[in-house]
Parts: sequence; C-alpha cells; structure tokens
Amino acid sequence: MSGGGYDPRRVAVLISGFGSNLQALLDAAKGGEWPGQVCLVVSDQAQAYGLERARRAGVATVTLAAADFPDRSAYDAALGDTLEAHNVGLIVLAGFMRILGEACVNRFAGRMLNVHPSLLPRFRGLRTHERVLEAGDPHHGATVHFVTAELDGGPRIIQYRIPVRADDTPESLSARVQEGEHIILPRAAGWFAAGRLTMNRDIPQLDGQPLTKPLVVKGEE
Ligand code: GRF
Repeated sequence: MSGGGYDPRRVAVLISGFGSNLQALLDAAKGGEWPGQVCLVVSDQAQAYGLERARRAGVATVTLAAADFPDRSAYDAALGDTLEAHNVGLIVLAGFMRILGEACVNRFAGRMLNVHPSLLPRFRGLRTHERVLEAGDPHHGATVHFVTAELDGGPRIIQYRIPVRADDTPESLSARVQEGEHIILPRAAGWFAAGRLTMNRDIPQLDGQPLTKPLVVKGEE
C-alpha cells in the first residue's frame, strides 16, 4: 500500500478499441516479473476488441457507454466510482478516446498514465502521424505521461523516438510508433506498480530523482 491508501500494483486499463497496449500490459504481467496486475478493463465502446483480450486473460471488464449518461460529469463520476470500487491504484489510459474532466483527473491525481502517439509537446490531440509528415519533422515517436487536466499536457515520463523516413506514410509510422508504445507503457506502469515512479508537484520522480526531462528509448536509427 502507498501512503495514499491504495495499492499501486492494482492496475486498471481504459480502452476504446483494439487494445494492443492493453495486451502489452497483460503480456508483461504474465511473465511474472512485472510488478503489476491488471485487475480491471473499462471501455466506453461495447464492441472494443480489447474487452475480448481482457476476458481471455480473466480480467474483469466494465463497459460505460456515453449514451447511458446525461452529461460528461455524470459519466466521469460513474467511471471514478467504478475505479474506486475495484480498489485500483494505477489507471492507464491506453487508447481511451474520451477526454476526462478536471474533477475526474484530480480525483486520481498522480495515479493516471496516458500513452500518446507523438513526441509531446509536439502534436497533442489526434492525427499525429499525418501531422508529423505535414510538418516535415525528422523524428516521431510516443510518450507516456501523467494525466493532468491539460489534454496530452501532463508531465512526461518516457518517450520512444524513431527517425521519420523519406518513404514513411501515416500507416508505416503508426505501426513503428506502436511497437515503441508496447515497450515504454509497460515499463512506466511497472515502475509505478513497483512504487518507483511518483509525481510530486507536477514533476515525475523515478527512484526519488526528479525527471525534469523524459527518459528516451531510441527505436531503430
Ligand atoms: C495508441 O496509438 C495510443 O497511443 C493512442 O491510441 C492508440 C491505441 O491503440 N492513444 P491500442 O488500442 O492500444 O491498440
């Protein structure tokens, strides 16, 4: 248990679709060396393939469809109650396509991670692969960061970086970036689960040292 009264090893994963990042977390946990345990998967889409992955792994699933709630705050409150009911310590947003309101983010401050397909602060939001190509950036990648009320703007923990090739397309970039997501997301979540990663005044701390810059994992050059 942490000082906050939660167990950082109990991990919830929020998804909306394919769930390849969820799978990377489930696979990491299967090996026995990863310190966390995925206890709950929440989706806002009943048809999300990631729910099937969770069921196959014997993990509890909950679907919260936006249409069943009158507004965002009611949705967020139900989501927060679900997470608390399952006693999770860490909440990982892995392709969850809803924006969470400030109250919900604050309810789990310092306990929510997101994986985003760009080298933040470049390209917050959607269509990151297209935008990288349009901008002519030499590098692209993915970022795992703590979630704050600022969309894709929370403190960065670790990035995966690849060079953009002359013949890259949004599809080729997406595939290569996802490979990296599957490395950095289990790594960061594992640090949190092991009690090694925390957030203090909006600065991530790893093993007690402030991460003033994100750690970088380089993909193929
Ligand atoms: C990932 O690229 C992630 O960065 C973004 O949504 C995608 C989810 O993919 N936030 P998956 O559902 O984990 O396969």
